Amino acid sequence: MERIRIALTKGRLEKEAIKIFDGIGVDTSELKDKGRKLVFKSNNFPVEFVLVKAQDVITYVEHGVVDMGIVGKDTILENQTNFYEVVDLSVGKCFFALASLPSFKELPSYHRKIIATKYTKVAHDFFREKGEDVEIIKIEGSVELAPILGLADAIVDIVETGSTLKENGLIIFEKICDISARLIVNKASMKMKKKEVLDIVDRIENYIKQNGGKKVD
Ligand code: PRP
Repeated sequence: MERIRIALTKGRLEKEAIKIFDGIGVDTSELKDKGRKLVFKSNNFPVEFVLVKAQDVITYVEHGVVDMGIVGKDTILENQTNFYEVVDLSVGKCFFALASLPSFKELPSYHRKIIATKYTKVAHDFFREKGEDVEIIKIEGSVELAPILGLADAIVDIVETGSTLKENGLIIFEKICDISARLIVNKASMKMKKKEVLDIVDRIENYIKQNGGKKVD
């Protein structure tokens, strides 16, 4: 049996992803006791995990050095995607929104809006769809600061609980789209390691059907 290498997204989605592999009977004990290790083996399944940043999950899957990965739809939407998106895992649910200070609604319609975001492609696609020309400024984190400091008129950002917006006096003006974690597969792996890949995909699909959307503690 061919070994399958899987990239998981560090951070928010990490626990959810590990829970899914536990749920399909793959031993994940090395992932739960990481230390400084970067590659984690399973004791009962021919799989190997790496734990990396969201953007890197896509890079490794696209280049085929890992066969599959778990990553948020937000990161997928922000990239050109050259892989198969096979399962909506129904975890890591949040959404993209256009948000700002309440005074945003008073801007005259002829004003060319300045939008701050970490997700420039998502923001660009959203305004292009609306037929609106805006200036987009890339911010790496804590984007909520941009309208508060006067750098931007509004932000395009991820909303999960809504508390970051609320605590900073911002409100949602438009919901852009829903986000959740997805299972993605390298195109060549889907052909060359079809049996092993589809075995994992099927197990995960069944697990999600039975437990879909349940949040881990
Ligand atoms: C994300 C997002 C918001 C926040 C939303 O940031 O950019 O700031 O989470 O979550 P909430 O609706 O539950 O408050 P993240 O924590 O990933 O960090 P970042 O600002 O550095 O991107």
